[in-house]
Amino acid sequence: QQARRKTIFDLMEQIASHYQKALRDHPKAQTAVDYLRKRGLSGQISRDFGIGFAPPGWDNLLKQFGTTEESRQQLLDAGMLIENDDGKLYDRFRERIMFPIRDNRGRVVAFGGRVLGDDKPKYLNSPETDIFHKGRELYGLYEARQFYRKLERVIVVEGYMDVVALAQHGIRCAVATLGTASNSDHLRTVFRYCSEIIFCFDGDEAGRRAAQRALENALPTMEDGRSIRFLFLAEGEDPDDTVRRVGGTGFEALVAQAAPLESHFFDSFAQQFDTNSMEGKARLAKQASPMLAQLPNGVFKELMIEELAKRSGLRRQALEELQREATPPQS
Ligand code: CTP
Ligand code: MN
Ligand code: MN
Ligand code: MN
Ligand code: MN
Repeated sequence: QQARRKTIFDLMEQIASHYQKALRDHPKAQTAVDYLRKRGLSGQISRDFGIGFAPPGWDNLLKQFGTTEESRQQLLDAGMLIENDDGKLYDRFRERIMFPIRDNRGRVVAFGGRVLGDDKPKYLNSPETDIFHKGRELYGLYEARQFYRKLERVIVVEGYMDVVALAQHGIRCAVATLGTASNSDHLRTVFRYCSEIIFCFDGDEAGRRAAQRALENALPTMEDGRSIRFLFLAEGEDPDDTVRRVGGTGFEALVAQAAPLESHFFDSFAQQFDTNSMEGKARLAKQASPMLAQLPNGVFKELMIEELAKRSGLRRQALEELQREATPPQS
């Protein structure tokens, strides 16, 4: 098992090099090069992230790397080939810009591939495999850790392009959740390397929902000494759009003004109902109290409960009652 795994990682690294080489010298790579340039990416940043190109064709990878039964099985296991109903094998990624996804040890475990135009699906990702667990990996985290001797903070964004566009403008600490919602595993992983997280999702309905989920997932991880903030972008923009509009320094200024978890927490209720009316205060207490119960014990938790008491006009004891009511008794 151990020996076989090692060769899968070797194979993935070789495939990443193969895609990178294709971006440099495949006869059909010019459209991909033009595309990356149009999106504002330099050759240097593309190299830093190992961005490559899967040329058109159904069997490029198959021919190059699948010369034996064993190697074909490996490519299948790694999610790089697909087997159709007749048992015929073909390349998963065709005519796409390729983003290698590295695990925390820097090993290529998966790829994301973007179409060059407006075809669907816009992004294609490796499936779950023995070496790739989507809910655990964060695109760009390894690269960020390589760049900074000591990573101070991480900006969590939605997309590959957001990560590389921010890097292009000198902000090398962005990571992406690969299209899945951020979960508490992601947060725990990030907190292994730094103590501050800034969530910066797209300025659309989906992005706001992602921020709400991130808030809920963040609560249990919010130990004293850690910081979580939320940066909301202009309507219709994602971090890539924003950094290209305002530049790296402008984006840093936005990050500096990002809302701390506590303000976002109380604001999100104020956006849903009138938290100044008595009925609103009751709702606030009922909904917020069980959420705050998820915070790890500490000074931050105490302060948040104080704040809720102030805002709702309820005493701590009454708030604790609400927590007990909301938590079903353990049998
Ligand atoms: N995504 C995906 N499959 C899709 C669409 C999106 O896996 N069909 C994931 C990708 O990781 C993508 C992220 O969700 O980067 C965010 O999606 P979206 O905002 O739609 O894409 P952008 O990253 O903004 O793409 P681009 O700027 O290249 O158009
Ligand atoms: Mn989006
Ligand atoms: Mn985008
Ligand atoms: Mn986007
Ligand atoms: Mn800039």
